[in-house]
Amino acid sequence: MDAHIPILQRFSLSGKTALVTGGASGIGRGFCHALGEAGAKVAVADVNQEAAETAVEELRAKGMTAMALCTDVTDPQAVETMVQAVVSEWGELTIGVNNAGMGVWSDAMEMPYALWQKISKLNLDAVFLCAREEAKVMAEAGYGKIINTASMSAHISNTPQKQCCYNATKAGVLHLTRSLAAEWAPLGIRVNSISPGYTKTMLVDKLLETPEGKSMLPRWLEKIPMGRMAQVEDLQGAAVYLAAEVSDYMTGNDLIIDGGYCCW
Ligand SMILES: NC(=O)c1ccc[n+]([C@@H]2O[C@H](COP(=O)([O-])OP(=O)(O)OC[C@H]3O[C@@H](n4cnc5c(N)ncnc54)[C@H](O)[C@@H]3O)[C@@H](O)[C@H]2O)c1
Repeated sequence: MDAHIPILQRFSLSGKTALVTGGASGIGRGFCHALGEAGAKVAVADVNQEAAETAVEELRAKGMTAMALCTDVTDPQAVETMVQAVVSEWGELTIGVNNAGMGVWSDAMEMPYALWQKISKLNLDAVFLCAREEAKVMAEAGYGKIINTASMSAHISNTPQKQCCYNATKAGVLHLTRSLAAEWAPLGIRVNSISPGYTKTMLVDKLLETPEGKSMLPRWLEKIPMGRMAQVEDLQGAAVYLAAEVSDYMTGNDLIIDGGYCCW
């Protein structure tokens, strides 16, 4: 690192290429905008093709270079194709944001095993599949930044909703992050995660539409020291920081952005 480069320049992603899974909506979409605004070319990968194309139109309208990739990240072959598509279009992949995920509330004793497997495949297995393919490209370049979306639920068992599978898979993301960070540090690949607290997105809005969800909101707010849910904008700075050279000495770590929830 050149100590003479001004600090804000070290946050720049100019000339870098980024891939964001689950990039078509919510937190992932916010990450796409943040990385693009910081200068990166952005590949928006999502199982929802139409939404991915809409996100790409938004990015292009801001003058960014972007492409949409319709990918189911739980499919190992599709993940390989997704990463190769970025490399064949832009020649490299510097930043991989493994963000696609979903939540589910279920009483543990009533939870069908098939549902457990579905959530685990997306929230944990797919993070591994994406990181593995991204790392192959980054290892060749001797440099890369992987950012996984975990959750405050990786750290605590938040209440009153019952979500043992979500909590367990997100805790898995944290330890996968640490394990890959240690294994790949000699290759120049940094692996970190971001743990959002309750954030206003489609995922949460859907849950809050249910009668159970409606009754939860006041109880959640009561437990957030900042007294409000996060907006996607509250998380964007962390993604740029972890993607940029300014954080090159950081690996295997997690940034919790939860309005203080985990302080209790
Ligand atoms: N919203 C929150 O409060 C919150 C809190 C902590 C962590 N998170 C995590 O943040 C991430 C994003 O959540 P969000 O709230 O933005 O959700 P969201 O539902 O708004 O967005 C998720 C995106 O992932 C895509 N997706 C789903 N399955 C996919 C698959 N198999 N392949 C590719 N894409 C797929 C969806 O189409 C969607 O665009 C998730 O990992 C979630 O667990 C969310």
